[in-house]
Amino acid sequence: MMVHRKKKPALVIVAVLTLLCIAPTLAVNAKQERKLRFRQNGEFKILQVADMHFANGKTTPCLDVLPSQVAGCSDLNTTAFINRMISAEKPDLIVFTGDNIFGFDATDAAKSLNAAFAPAIASNIPWVAVLGNHDQESTLSREGVMKHIVTLKNTLSQVNPSDAHIIDGFGNYNLEIGGVKGSGFENKSVLNLYFLDSGDYSTVPSVPGYGWIKPSQQFWFEQTSARLQRAYMSKPAAQKAPAPGLVYFHIPLPEFAYFDQSNFTGVRQEGISSASVNSGFFTTMVAAGDVKAVFTGHDHVNDFCGRLTGIQLCYGGGFGYHAYGKAGWERRARVVVASLEKTEKRGWGDVKSIKTWKRLDDEHLTGVDGHVLWSKTSSDS
Ligand SMILES: *[C@@H]1O[C@H](CO)[C@@H](O)[C@H](O)[C@H]1NC(C)=O
Ligand SMILES: *[C@@H]1O[C@H](CO)[C@@H](O)[C@H](O)[C@H]1NC(C)=O
Ligand SMILES: *[C@@H]1O[C@H](CO)[C@@H](O)[C@H](O)[C@H]1NC(C)=O
Repeated sequence: MMVHRKKKPALVIVAVLTLLCIAPTLAVNAKQERKLRFRQNGEFKILQVADMHFANGKTTPCLDVLPSQVAGCSDLNTTAFINRMISAEKPDLIVFTGDNIFGFDATDAAKSLNAAFAPAIASNIPWVAVLGNHDQESTLSREGVMKHIVTLKNTLSQVNPSDAHIIDGFGNYNLEIGGVKGSGFENKSVLNLYFLDSGDYSTVPSVPGYGWIKPSQQFWFEQTSARLQRAYMSKPAAQKAPAPGLVYFHIPLPEFAYFDQSNFTGVRQEGISSASVNSGFFTTMVAAGDVKAVFTGHDHVNDFCGRLTGIQLCYGGGFGYHAYGKAGWERRARVVVASLEKTEKRGWGDVKSIKTWKRLDDEHLTGVDGHVLWSKTSSDS
């Protein structure tokens, strides 16, 4: 009651609160102007760049190339490869799945990150990045790297979601891809992208090896997936099944080891370097019900996709020249394209299929292993 009588202080408080609120609102609006949606041709294309391992640029040598390719090979070849991929595919979004820089060899983390992402920035195409286990080994911490990334031009990356008060890691966020402008799905997110920080190394003394996606992150994922599904399946234009989801992070899940030649597309040329414990995130995604595919990096000479319990588990394939690889086995990148259903009335409907292929960094950017990851009719039960 007393508070209500103190009119002046209340007004001052309101004024201050208003000022405090305006700035973030403007920032959010600026972000929304870059809202992603399907193109008028009913497609949305994503280029995944895994493990650039960028360091200092032209003074940083290439690893695991043929003896004849050693001379004149550096980080600049990684840059040239991204530029070629962007011109060949003209993606709608570029996703960097960690180990963007190889911190141990980068003298200045910010400079290395700027150079690593420069082709994406110059292309004017929206791009995002998550962290690997090597990004923090230079002059910036994991938090510092992610905070630097979000300041770069054209990125839709976020340090962490504003609706999660406590969350492990840096670089957990989601993106909603709207239906075609002017179609019945123009106000619906018809494709949902989730990005998570899979950590670097275990901090639990009794658990050796790599990090994993923690319960706080899984909880945020569950809440976000549930919220998106509720919106999609409510009026207006209530849908019967959730919109498909795609999940991007760095370190593969233990479930990537459940495949062999008989049930994957691509190659497995090294072990699956997941955490030594199972975080349960695969089960969390299966239970959520919307995720159709997961894309990781980390193991540079594995590039397969295999389907388990309705979810495709895919590697991007090693991209960077200062990353270990296999001499004579080309650096590569994965492309994913989601296609909408063509409808009579309003042009374009919801997502009908999701396809993938890879391109090799050879003379012709040869496309390989093209296949369907998911389609509404065959696997949406
Ligand atoms: C690296 O780039 C140089 C300069 O364009 C080129 O001559 C060389 O063939 C490239 N090396 C590889 C392994 O692609
Ligand atoms: C989408 O939202 C806009 C703005 O509220 C509205 O004008 C338009 O009719 C909506 N489209 C559909 C298909 O509901
Ligand atoms: C793949 O096939 C092998 C047998 O060749 C089998 O042991 C394994 O369970 C299969 N994996 C999946 C995910 O279906």
